[in-house]
Amino acid sequence: MDKVIIFDTTLRDGEQAAGSSLNVSEKLEIARQLERLGADVIEAGFPVSSSGDFEAVRTLSRQIRGASICALARAVPNDIDTAWEAIKEGAAPRIHVFISTSDIHIQYQLKKSREEVLAMAVEAVRQARKHLSDVEFSPMDATRTDPTFLYQVLNAAIAAGANTINIPDTVGYAVPDEFGSLIDDIYDNVPDMRNVTLSVHCHNDLGLATANAVSALMHGARQIECTINGIGERAGNTALEELVMILATKGALLNLKTSVNTKQIYSTSRLVSELTGFQVQPNKAVVGANAFRHQSGIHQDGVIKQRFTYEVMDPQTIGIPSSSIVLGKLSGSSALRQRLDELGYNLSNDDFERTFISFKELADKKKEVTARDIESLMAEDKRTVIEHYHLERIQVTCGDRGIPTAAVKLIGPNGEELADASLGTGPVDAAYKAINRIVKVPNKLTEFSVNSITAGIDAIGEVLIRIEADGISYTGRGADPDIVVASAKAYMNALNRLLASSRLSEHGAGGA
Ligand code: KIV
Ligand code: ZN
Repeated sequence: MDKVIIFDTTLRDGEQAAGSSLNVSEKLEIARQLERLGADVIEAGFPVSSSGDFEAVRTLSRQIRGASICALARAVPNDIDTAWEAIKEGAAPRIHVFISTSDIHIQYQLKKSREEVLAMAVEAVRQARKHLSDVEFSPMDATRTDPTFLYQVLNAAIAAGANTINIPDTVGYAVPDEFGSLIDDIYDNVPDMRNVTLSVHCHNDLGLATANAVSALMHGARQIECTINGIGERAGNTALEELVMILATKGALLNLKTSVNTKQIYSTSRLVSELTGFQVQPNKAVVGANAFRHQSGIHQDGVIKQRFTYEVMDPQTIGIPSSSIVLGKLSGSSALRQRLDELGYNLSNDDFERTFISFKELADKKKEVTARDIESLMAEDKRTVIEHYHLERIQVTCGDRGIPTAAVKLIGPNGEELADASLGTGPVDAAYKAINRIVKVPNKLTEFSVNSITAGIDAIGEVLIRIEADGISYTGRGADPDIVVASAKAYMNALNRLLASSRLSEHGAGGA
């Protein structure tokens, strides 16, 4: 079987998705999980785009040793030198250079001639090769590029030293047969194509990103650029979990394999959803909440008799926990420890003690504590680590007659107690206004949603919000059986992220 290189761009194209904003430690946490998952290449960011991105790429290059760390650069000298500065301490660094080659982009966006674009591509690859040996080149909008010009650019980029050629379907315009034929034509018209790796990068505008990637593999591509949960610009990219499970399930037909440890897929999906704030749609292939749920009686009957009747994959191979143990207020520490192990959490004794206390508090309020409740507890724990202000107490009064009022007590950066109160149009508005009276950071609330994590009247409510300050969006999440408390926690979480990032820039992340 041929190996397919998994090039994960969750932290670059995925992070470009509208509304996403990951800080350095969140990017590092996702990268560590991608390393455990077995991604071959991690595209960590676009260093010239911001000092935060530069810092993130540099940190990942220093800390991640089990995967190649790649930095994106336009075909301009400063981008390439900045990308190199960010990755030069990496174990296996790669620079990914791109330039648009379609006439639409060349004419309207770049306002250059084809000759100029060709020269820039060659010069950029040569410059990158002066720094390192692993250079990837992408002709952006390849699927809308005149094929003759595309072959010319690819021949020149390989001659200049690119050893991976990536074919982006930037606007998700191709259909699988057409895309497969383009890959054949590239092999037929670019003589040295068989001496380098052919990669594809597909967008999902027409819902065909994964299908196009599979078609490319069937025509000889050996690297796929993809993201966890398929996040990315607009409708997103090829979903890593879909591509990997297609190869795991149909490997014999395609004669292809990956180095991904499929058992890490579920926890990686949950982590990315948690940190980016992008929820996974319930019917999402492989990792959606309904992906292995059977509603119709006929299907349920079949699955009870033999799982293969209606399931093409075993949920356990994706790392979805199977345990039937139900935890509740009588459960002891060993049952919780076992459940945490099954869910892939390896906690130190101190962390476990803290989790056990939170678990007991939850079990007092909720009859059954499910796997999703525990994931939520763990996520909640992570959220509290970066706190500048901590929500100590919140009290609201509301109803159809009274004026909604909230009083809050926060613990400030130096451990001081800070209390204030406010009226509002509703209890959440009052709580946010009371918090604003203490944490004086101007921002605009742009998104607010409440979800119940599990079924039942005692379910935990999970609140996801986004706030915007200086054009940057910050996600906040909070979970609690009381949705006003969950809303206040989500707001504190978003504010703490905002404060953390302004502190980072105050201290000068440098570089880009
Ligand atoms: O979609 C695209 O063309 C890209 C390139 C930078 C590869 O993301
Ligand atoms: Zn893209």
